[in-house]
Amino acid sequence: MTSKLRHLTPADLPRLRQFWIEHWGGEEMSTRGNMFRPEQLDGFVVEDQNDWVGLITFFIKDNECEVTSLDSLRERRGIGTRLIDKAIEVARARKCDRLFLITTNDNLHALGFYQKRGFEIVAIYRGAVNESRKRKPGIPLVGMDGIPLRDEIELEIRL
Ligand SMILES: CC(C)(COP(=O)(O)OP(=O)(O)OC[C@H]1O[C@@H](n2cnc3c(N)ncnc32)[C@H](O)[C@@H]1OP(=O)(O)O)[C@@H](O)C(=O)NCCC(=O)NCCS
Repeated sequence: MTSKLRHLTPADLPRLRQFWIEHWGGEEMSTRGNMFRPEQLDGFVVEDQNDWVGLITFFIKDNECEVTSLDSLRERRGIGTRLIDKAIEVARARKCDRLFLITTNDNLHALGFYQKRGFEIVAIYRGAVNESRKRKPGIPLVGMDGIPLRDEIELEIRL
């Protein structure tokens, strides 16, 4: 692979905001009722020439690392795995006990992707997306593959 993985820098913030708007519908990410803004986060980007083809962002606090977004724009070429491995490496170096993330009940692909890479489901927050939708009415009622979008699912890997 010729693409290059590099740390995000403050100069990337405008592009990161734009990326999230395009791929996640807003420039803030919300999980478990917490809002994350790009400037609070650490992360890595995979670039091909000047194109961003992969992005991971994460937040480290109290010996825990939360992945706040993971995107691969060229799937099935190892980009997602490279990015999650990098986040694990950083979280280990920062002495985190675990790396965790929230996905939604409709994202069957992500649930498989993470579990194949050693993550375990540790919590299901029933109806959490329904609650978020009250604050953000733009969240659709139906998610991927026509599955009703309702719950948040927490997966973790112990470090
Ligand atoms: C989930 C996601 C990040 C995975 O990214 P990806 O770049 O496709 O991940 P990888 O290429 O590393 O791995 C995906 C599969 O491709 C396979 N693969 C990797 N390189 C390959 C290659 N050269 N040829 C064939 N298959 C390959 C991997 O083995 C893997 O299959 P497996 O899970 O059965 O082992 C991506 O699908 C995505 O961005 N989804 C949308 C956003 C999303 O849902 N993010 C997660 C929210 S929590």
